[in-house]
Amino acid sequence: MSVSVKAIACTPGLHRYLVHHGRAADPLLEELARVTRAAVPELAHMTLPLEEATLLTFLANLTAARTVVEVGMFTGSSTIALARGLPADGRVLTCEIDSRFLELSAPYLERAGVADRVDVRVGPALTTLRSLPPAPHLDLVFIDADKPSYIGYWEELVPRVRPGGLLIVDNSLFSGEVVSPEPGTKAAAVHAFNEHARADERVELVMLNVADGITLARRLDEQDREE
Ligand SMILES: C[S@@+](CC[C@H](N)C(=O)[O-])C[C@H]1O[C@@H](n2cnc3c(N)ncnc32)[C@H](O)[C@@H]1O
Repeated sequence: MSVSVKAIACTPGLHRYLVHHGRAADPLLEELARVTRAAVPELAHMTLPLEEATLLTFLANLTAARTVVEVGMFTGSSTIALARGLPADGRVLTCEIDSRFLELSAPYLERAGVADRVDVRVGPALTTLRSLPPAPHLDLVFIDADKPSYIGYWEELVPRVRPGGLLIVDNSLFSGEVVSPEPGTKAAAVHAFNEHARADERVELVMLNVADGITLARRLDEQDREE
């Protein structure tokens, strides 16, 4: 395949530039990232990058989302970013298996002014998703939890997203390891998901080489699919 490659390696200097000019600097989320590093240093790499937080808020606004489901809250950076893009009566239902993170995230949800828009469901996300109404009622979903379950989350969520609604999937390039993943690894699970999503005719999708890779998928309706 002879296509030109235009992606730019993101050096620390370029990342600072991107955060500054992309209006991603955010004292509250930066403080939350510091508190997360201090509390759970071994897990702090899971915190959403600032530029991705800006993107989530932007996309929630752009799609005029009101009803959002998130899979994988951790200490709440993405939850805050999504909730900030909703109207006052909008809601983010977020799934998190580890209740330890709730105490950490709660004051930041309050300070961000979005606590009343967020409904945290503690437990395995698949159980929570299966308890949701089956009809297509979601405007936006964000998938960012255990990689081997990505296909399961997708299969629960695609039918529940309204036509024109948006699915956002994080880590879809998984540090670049998806190109030739070792069998049985998280990268292999993400690659299997990427193959699954690519073949799914219920959506149109685009992959962004942003942060660790982000897949955006728009739910099609029957009319879109006939064209
Ligand atoms: C990558 S982190 C999410 C990061 C978060 N979106 C943020 O902005 O900081 C993934 C989270 O998914 C949670 N998780 C893992 N397996 C899960 C499951 N089966 N159900 C629900 N949450 C799960 C983990 O405890 C972790 O907090």
